[in-house]
Amino acid sequence: MALVTVIVVNIAATAMATVPEIGEAWHRFYRWTEFVAVLIFTVEYLARAWVSVEDPRSVNDSPWTWRLRHALTPLAIIDLVAILPSYIELVFGGAWEFTLILRVLRLFKLLRFTGAFDTIFAVIRAERRPLIATFCVITVVLLLISTLAYVAEREAQPDKFGSIPAAFYWGIVTLATVGYGDIAPITPLGRATGALGAVLGILTFAMPAGIIASGFMEELRRRDFIVTWQLVAKVPLFRHLTASRIASVALVLRPVRIEAGSTVVRKGEEADGMYFIVTGELLVEAPGHTVMLKSGDFFGEMALLDGGKRSTTVRAGTGCELLHLGAAEFRQLAAGAPDLDAEVRRVADERRRDNESSTADRQPA
Ligand code: CMP
Repeated sequence: MALVTVIVVNIAATAMATVPEIGEAWHRFYRWTEFVAVLIFTVEYLARAWVSVEDPRSVNDSPWTWRLRHALTPLAIIDLVAILPSYIELVFGGAWEFTLILRVLRLFKLLRFTGAFDTIFAVIRAERRPLIATFCVITVVLLLISTLAYVAEREAQPDKFGSIPAAFYWGIVTLATVGYGDIAPITPLGRATGALGAVLGILTFAMPAGIIASGFMEELRRRDFIVTWQLVAKVPLFRHLTASRIASVALVLRPVRIEAGSTVVRKGEEADGMYFIVTGELLVEAPGHTVMLKSGDFFGEMALLDGGKRSTTVRAGTGCELLHLGAAEFRQLAAGAPDLDAEVRRVADERRRDNESSTADRQPA
């Protein structure tokens, strides 16, 4: 939240600083926000590079190789671009227009804090073929109406429609149905071309919009995999429940998709539920050792049973699909299914003993 606030305030101040009427007091404020933002972003950049080796996937690389690989990831490059303009200005001075554009690109830092951009990129990637095809169609239509307009208007308005490339500007503005009106056909054929261009523009521009919209629906459906009766019945802990109870559990389980490397539960956090692993592998950072949990396992039960806080941190080693069961729903389910309750308690006791013995092993005699 703090970083998002710094980014937004800094970009707003950068934009405001370009308003000529704004007084010296505002400019001082702007310079302060710039100083504070660059300081925070620099510390953030270095801290992220430093801790990147905590990623479970880094085990095969030396820490510095992994840090270098981290520095080349798109998000790290965005972080670097966010701080670079100020250092460029500091070293070389001037070039304010250039660094202004880089400064505004800081907005991309927000990419990290919202999954929405991931969805947009995933949609564009998945739909790239039909999108390229529609852009080809748009280009052909643009060429067609620009050529027609050139033929119709070149003698009447040689300064505006003197060549096909010169007619492109009018063609794009017409196809996009913006129609600024700064250049307009005056001959009957030119006007007919303009009308045709406006209609074709609506049709051709509707195509990418439709493709992207349906791509979004598809992507969202893929992300939120659906909790079915069959899926719940496959979870070992639920296998012995009656069919109707499985159906009621399916209603309260929430599907969660986790990216590789993300933290699912953090040591010391309040618990709001427990998780069942459908696919993927998770790493439990138990005291003194790391335990891997796989499809069919569950975690997050200890804090629910103790009514306390998370005992350890659990991270996704790979991309995972999990089912989340809320604390209240868990209690309700456990109260109605003593076998299930006993099994969860048995596993929790086993894990507690495992952690205690590991902690004892590490104590000096
Ligand atoms: P909870 O304490 O709620 O949050 C962290 C979870 O990690 C914990 O519940 C257990 O489900 C799991 N966990 C803790 N220690 C171990 C262990 N030694 N082996 C496997 N899982 C564990």
